[in-house]
Amino acid sequence: MRHRSLGKTGLMVSELALGTWGLSGDAYGPVPETEQDAVLERARALGIDLFETADSYALGEMERRVGSLLGPHQSARFVTKIGTDRHSSPPRKRFDAGYLRQAFDGSRRRLCRDVVDVVLLHNPSANALTRGEATGVLEELRIRGALVAWGVSAGSAEVADAAITAGAQVLQVAHHALGSWVFDSVAARVAERGIGVLARSVLGHGLLCGLWPPSKEFEPEDHRSERWSRHDLGRRLRQLDALRPVLGESVPTLRAAALRFVLANESVSSAVLGPRRRLQLDQLVREAGREPPYLSIEQLRGLEQRLREAGVR
Ligand SMILES: NC(=O)c1ccc[n+]([C@@H]2O[C@H](COP(=O)([O-])OP(=O)(O)OC[C@H]3O[C@@H](n4cnc5c(N)ncnc54)[C@H](OP(=O)(O)O)[C@@H]3O)[C@@H](O)[C@H]2O)c1
Repeated sequence: MRHRSLGKTGLMVSELALGTWGLSGDAYGPVPETEQDAVLERARALGIDLFETADSYALGEMERRVGSLLGPHQSARFVTKIGTDRHSSPPRKRFDAGYLRQAFDGSRRRLCRDVVDVVLLHNPSANALTRGEATGVLEELRIRGALVAWGVSAGSAEVADAAITAGAQVLQVAHHALGSWVFDSVAARVAERGIGVLARSVLGHGLLCGLWPPSKEFEPEDHRSERWSRHDLGRRLRQLDALRPVLGESVPTLRAAALRFVLANESVSSAVLGPRRRLQLDQLVREAGREPPYLSIEQLRGLEQRLREAGVR
């Protein structure tokens, strides 16, 4: 497993990370506990040392599992996210200092770590960042040595931009071949400031695997049941044609092409994978490739041209 620096944080991280939203059962439907543990252990065995979670996933249960299985392994690096109060009804976003301090203590306890590697604000608004209260708490924790680096998981270009202005050392954004606008909008500032980038949803929630018919149905508890209209899903599946000419001996599947598109960008510190089963994780690690070039310059140029023609970029 190759490692990259997480911006200027001083942390070296595996370029493939394991995200745990899907595993937690909150996102795509339930996952048996035995499979959750099997995926976490398999990830470590495959050389993944960066694990991404949130205090809200399964109401803290996911952090607890990550902490109890991997906490004792000092080589395992943890990224967690705070700022969603799921104990209030209805759940709400909270970025006030008192709440964040309490949330951080809870995460640290569940992760079984005195020092948490990276803490991100979980989908704040640009206003919440501009106010400075939330980022002030994280910076204070960093200065005290309770965390190594802090940042923001940003849901829009506006929030990503505000995060950089607020001094984030790590930025997490959705970034994939059919959806790279948030990353593209901040790429220059990220490189200039040496910010660590965690690219999530690199398969576009599974869409980029190209395994679904246009009539694909999702279970009601799967977040994808509300994500795309039938028309939109058909359009997105057709856009995958832009990736097909990349396929060949070293890039056997659309899944491989999607992963390699993200890894080919050296500004990305780590691609946060979201497998829900051990088999999926094995496929992803095998097909990602082991070292550059993940895609040749010609393949990347051709792909970007076709994505532009398809109206994606
Ligand atoms: N706001 C935030 O901070 C935020 C938001 C989103 C995600 N994240 C993090 O990023 C991680 C990844 O995000 P994501 O869930 O959007 O990731 P993704 O990789 O784009 O999509 C995950 C889905 O892809 C499918 N998949 C995975 N491996 C596969 C394989 N080998 N073959 C076929 N299909 C495969 C699975 O779908 P099926 O379930 O249909 O098998 C899985 O549920 C999450 O776990 C979470 O930790 C953070």
